[in-house]
Order: sequence, then C-alpha cells, then structure tokens
Amino acid sequence: MKRSFRPLISILMLVALTATLSCRIASPRRGVFTVSAELESTTVLIQPPQIQVFNSTLLKFASIDIGEAKSKLEIKQLLERDFPNQGRQRNFATSRHDAKSKNSNGLPVLLRSPKFYRYWLDFRRNLQLWARKKTFQPDIMMDLVSLVKTPIDRHNGLMSSARKYKSCAVVGNSGILLNRDYGELIDGHEIVIRLNNARTEKFEEQVGSKTSISFVNSNILHLCARREGCFCHPYGRNVPMIMYICQPVHFMDYTVCNSSHKAPLLITDPRFDVLCARIVKYYSAKRFLEETRKALGEWASTHDGSMFHYSSGMQAVMLALGICDKVSIFGFGKSTSAKHHYHTNQKSELRLHDYEAEYAFYHDLVKNPQAIPFISDRFRFPPVVIYL
Ligand SMILES: *[C@@H]1O[C@H](CO)[C@@H](O)[C@H](O)[C@H]1NC(C)=O
Ligand SMILES: *[C@@H]1O[C@H](CO)[C@@H](O)[C@H](O)[C@H]1NC(C)=O
Repeated sequence: MKRSFRPLISILMLVALTATLSCRIASPRRGVFTVSAELESTTVLIQPPQIQVFNSTLLKFASIDIGEAKSKLEIKQLLERDFPNQGRQRNFATSRHDAKSKNSNGLPVLLRSPKFYRYWLDFRRNLQLWARKKTFQPDIMMDLVSLVKTPIDRHNGLMSSARKYKSCAVVGNSGILLNRDYGELIDGHEIVIRLNNARTEKFEEQVGSKTSISFVNSNILHLCARREGCFCHPYGRNVPMIMYICQPVHFMDYTVCNSSHKAPLLITDPRFDVLCARIVKYYSAKRFLEETRKALGEWASTHDGSMFHYSSGMQAVMLALGICDKVSIFGFGKSTSAKHHYHTNQKSELRLHDYEAEYAFYHDLVKNPQAIPFISDRFRFPPVVIYL
C-alpha cells in the first residue's frame, strides 16, 4: 500500500482494488437442505421459553472477530489519509490522468471537482461514526424498527410508529424457486425483501414482482457506483435500499450514491453486523465440531478465516425478525436438481459463507429460537415459516 502522499488516488485505488477481495460476490443465499420433511410444510412451532445453556467455549470462540485487527488497521489508514493538507493541491493538479482512469473503471466522481472534497469529508465522518459503533450489543434487535422502519415510513409519508410490519417475505435467490409458483404468495406479504438485486422480470410467477426493500451488500453498490448516477435500482428508484458494509472503503461509494438517492439508502448498524457475525460463527463452529471432530482451532482454515462472513440472506432474515410480526422465507435452499441461483448461471458456492450453518440457524428460528445465542432475552422472536 502506498504511503501518505497521494491520499486521494490511493483511496480510489483501494476502492477499486479491494472491492473484489471480500464479500466477493453479491452472493445471494442458499443453503443445503437435503431432504427435510419437517420443513417442507409450513408449520409454525413456537415453544415456551426454556432455559438454554450454551457451551461457553463455543460462545467465546464465536465472539472473536478474526478480521478485527485487519479491519481496524484498514480504517485507521483510511482516516489517516489527510486530504486537506498541502498535498491536496498537488493531488488535484496531477489528478487529470488518474481522474480519467478512474472514470473508466471507478467512482463517478470528477476528482478535480470541489464536490469531491465534500464527499471526502462526509466519507471520513461516516466511516468514523461507523467504526466507533462497531461493538457487541445484544439489544440491537429491539432498535431495528427505529433504525430501519422509521426512516422508510418517513420516506413514504407515514407517521412513524412502533408498529412492526404485519408480514414480511424474505426472498432468497435459490434456483429451487424455479420449481415453485410462489409469486402470488410472496407478493401477498405487506413487505417483500429481495436480495442483491436479483431480477424479477420473467420470473414473476415464481418469485413475484413486488419489492419493498432491496437488501444488498456494499459490493453491489460499489458496482452500481461505477455507473452514471449510481444507478442501482432494478426495482425502481423509490425502493429503499439497505446494505451492509463489506469493506470500510465502500463508504466512499455510499457517500457518493447517498447524495443522489431518492429513496433511503441505509447502512446496517455495525452493532447489528456484529450480532449477525457472532451468530453465524457460532453455528458454523458448532457444526464443525459435530461433523469433523477436529479442534476448534482448525475451524478458520476450512472457512477462509478472516474472510468468513454471514450471507446477505442471513442478515436480511435477521432484519425481518426485528421489523416484522411474521416472517416468511422463500428461496433459501439447495437441491441437486436446482440451479444455484434462479436468475444467474453461477455454479460454485462461496467458501466464505457457511450456508449449512445458516440453515441450522433458520431451523432453530422456526423450531426453537431459544437455542439461538447472543440475542438479548428481552427480544421476542416472531413466528417464522420456511417455504421450500
Ligand atoms: C463445549 O465444547 C467444547 C468443544 O467441543 C468441549 O470441549 C467442551 O467440553 C464443551 N463444554 C461443555 C460444558 O459442554
Ligand atoms: C444520506 O442522504 C440523506 C438524504 O439526502 C441525508 O438526509 C442523510 O444525512 C445522508 N446520510 C449520510 C450518513 O450522509
């Protein structure tokens, strides 16, 4: 990595280069449910609260964020690049070439424009706030209504209230959807959450056509930000977007795009990210122990270590739990006879996700939410139904 001079160029390079390193593909979700008779139907089972004893070794293991040091360093370096110092003039003066190369494959920003300086300040501020908030907070589930639903309601001209959405459908992108005609059922929910910009055209019968919330990871926005006007609205300009940050540099894309967005463009709260990360790591580690009988220390090497990440679908389901009275899950499943995605020809599965672990989590959501660690006891899980 380049040193302190040329901060602007370095940042832009970083944006371009690192975007492909993690959260690599806008990977919609699917998992492995071989044949699961019990989940095949749409039974809802909510059991009375029971005291759950979690294995403390697993809890502790899941609480460690292997990528934390690296991420902190990255943030520190981004924030240390001091744009408004003497180097700035030179950067602006010599930025012609870079601006050109950048425009062809990067941000839709004219580097010589004074507008960029404002983006730069906003970028720093947003990143700083986010980094400061990135802590574990088991109560964060109870804040999702005010963090997410309230701004969306406001955008729609509604009075904000503590009311949750009556019903939400979270639509994953698994190819299993092609063998079903869930379109009408999906669209019948008050809120339909779709993932990573999967298109609905030509698939309306199978996946429906209504989209209330577009949930993506920041890599998707990074790709959109290259296009003029940050065009990232396959569902229309009025559909709010929620995204989690894969890499701190993506705050630049966010900052640039947010200024032109009509509908809310929201970033998931970092405390919510931490909660999701812990839960998935817990399930992954648990499965690893049960299935391999190896030591926990070997978990990282089989799951891309610091690259390990929950999927967009998992976090979208978590979000739905916090803002909906009833949650239906569609298109989260895998079958040897189905395509990976209903809308792409992607073949391989990403190693940085552990879909099977996430499936174990969904299974607990339906059958035994008390078995889910890290979420505050004060949180009441809504009923969840999985449509396979
Ligand atoms: C928790 O899991 C670890 C790792 O499998 C195991 O060694 C330990 O005995 C378990 N502890 C309890 C209290 O069950
Ligand atoms: C994003 O844009 C909206 C609307 O212009 C604005 O109100 C909000 O403050 C911006 N968010 C950030 C974090 O810059």
